[in-house]
Formats: sequence, structure tokens, C-alpha cells
Amino acid sequence: MSNNLLANKKGIIFGALDDKSIAWKIAERCVEEGASITLTNAPVALRFGKIQQLGEQLNAEVIPADVTVQEDLDHLFEKSMEVLGGKVDFVLHSIGMSLNVRKKRAYTDIKYEWMHKTFDISAISFHRMMQTIYKKDAINDWGSILALTYIAAQRTFPDYSEMAESKALLESFARSFGYHFGVEKKVRVNTISQSPTFTTAGSGVKGFDKFFDYADKMSPLGNASAEACADYCISLFSDLTKMVTMQNLFHDGGFSKMGLNPTVLEG
Ligand SMILES: NC(=O)c1ccc[n+]([C@@H]2O[C@H](COP(=O)([O-])OP(=O)(O)OC[C@H]3O[C@@H](n4cnc5c(N)ncnc54)[C@H](O)[C@@H]3O)[C@@H](O)[C@H]2O)c1
Repeated sequence: MSNNLLANKKGIIFGALDDKSIAWKIAERCVEEGASITLTNAPVALRFGKIQQLGEQLNAEVIPADVTVQEDLDHLFEKSMEVLGGKVDFVLHSIGMSLNVRKKRAYTDIKYEWMHKTFDISAISFHRMMQTIYKKDAINDWGSILALTYIAAQRTFPDYSEMAESKALLESFARSFGYHFGVEKKVRVNTISQSPTFTTAGSGVKGFDKFFDYADKMSPLGNASAEACADYCISLFSDLTKMVTMQNLFHDGGFSKMGLNPTVLEG
């Protein structure tokens, strides 16, 4: 159902790979709410993913950009402003990748070369993205920048490995850059800490199925779906949340505030 909450707004959505991606659902909802968007992902994801299909569905230009490459980001923002006809109003960072997780290296036997890559793709990219927006003056006053994160930044989930530190860094960048964007440009920056969700990145974590069920039982409202996450993002891109900034916002059915849910003990 559309409430036209993003009428006349323009945005850029990073990270839609296939129809399971959280960014895919968010992109669909943004257009449903009246926004014009461009979509972006790494060149390799454009070859193997289904983002072109989403682009056609949403009438959105797909612009390749590897988030670790500055020239790619420069091109992405310039091209997006050209295609959309001016500065943007919102940007979503929905990107995560860990080589140590993917290659099943134990946390106690991390390969640091890969860890650097993980931080670069999953966290530093958020700073790079914001710095590019800032320097190019690519976002309108009262715009909104969001990134997706996970509660492993605050608590230990052993199989999440180095992604925990990536998310801690990502959330810190939101606070630090949120200050500069706030005072200089009246733009807000937040992270959404989402429930476990079945996607390519999510399912890459060891024991994800069991963990998904555990979180679902622990949360009074159950796990939040990707569709519910999309709804929440719409509210944060809209003008109804103009004074919310520098926050890490839990979107997890209550999981983050639970100590024990007896349901979990029932097996
Ligand atoms: N799935 C979950 O359980 C869950 C829970 C909380 C937070 N998140 C976060 O949500 C975000 C989206 O993940 P998802 O679960 O939708 O999985 P996904 O695999 O669909 O999305 C990850 C995206 O990152 C992109 N990416 C990887 N390397 C890139 C690069 N160098 N340049 C540009 N893009 C690159 C991938 O192509 C992909 O589109 C991530 O930040 C993830 O950590 C996921």
C-alpha cells in the first residue's frame, strides 16, 4: 500500500543482488512510495545477480560501482544526479562481505589480508560513500542516509566472526559523519540493526538456519522480515523522521532487549 511518503524524492540504493536481498525489497518500496531511484552494485554482481531485472521493473538505471573504488563512486553520484535530474534525498548502504567467513576461516585463525578487504567493503565503504556525497554536495538539505547493520556489533555471536568488528566500525561512522552532515547540511545518518534474514550474505554465516530459529523464538514479535525492514526504511527516508540522526535503530522484534524468552528453553 502506498502513502506517497517519498513523492518527489530521489535516491540511490546500494546492494540489491537478487530478490532475497534486503535492498531489493527496499528499492521496490521506495518506488511504490513515489521515489525515483538509481540502483548500484559491484560490476561482478551485475554479471551474476538479477539487478538488471529489478532496474527494468522499477524503471531505474543500474550503475555499476565497486564500493572500494573511489572513481566508481565519483561516477555513480555524478551519473545518478544526471539521470535523476538533481541532488538526491536519500541513500541506502546495504553491503556486506567477509572473505574469512566465506572461506570458513576460524576467528582465531584470521587471515589479515582478507580482514582488510572485509573492513574495506563492509564498513570503510560507508565512510567513502558519505565522503563522496559530502564533497560533491550530492544530497539535499534534510536528506537521509541509512546503512544496515547487525547486533553482533554490541554482543558476541561467534560465527559472525570479523563481521562483528565491521559492523561496529560502520555504526561508529554513522555517528561521526552524522555530526558533520547534521551541522553542515541538515542531513541525517542512521544505521538499522536488522533481524537475521535469509539472503545470500545472511545464509553465508555458519549455522544460520538454527540461529534464525533461535532469534525468532527469543524475539517477542518474532524476527523482522526484509519486507518489514523496507517499511522501516521508508519511514526513515521520509519527512516524518527529520530529527532522528546518529542512531543505531534496532529493527528486530524486540530481540535486542531480551534476556531470556522461556520459549527458547522449551526447545
Ligand atoms: N541477512 C541478514 O541476516 C542480515 C541481518 C542484519 C544486517 N544485514 C545486512 O544487510 C545488508 C545487506 O545484506 P543482505 O542480507 O541483503 O545480503 P545480500 O548478499 O543480498 O547483499 C549484500 C550486497 O553487498 C554487495 N557487495 C559486496 N561487495 C561489494 C562491493 N565491493 N561493491 C559493491 N557492492 C558489494 C553484494 O553484491 C550484495 O548485493 C548487509 O550490510 C548485511 O550485513 C543482513
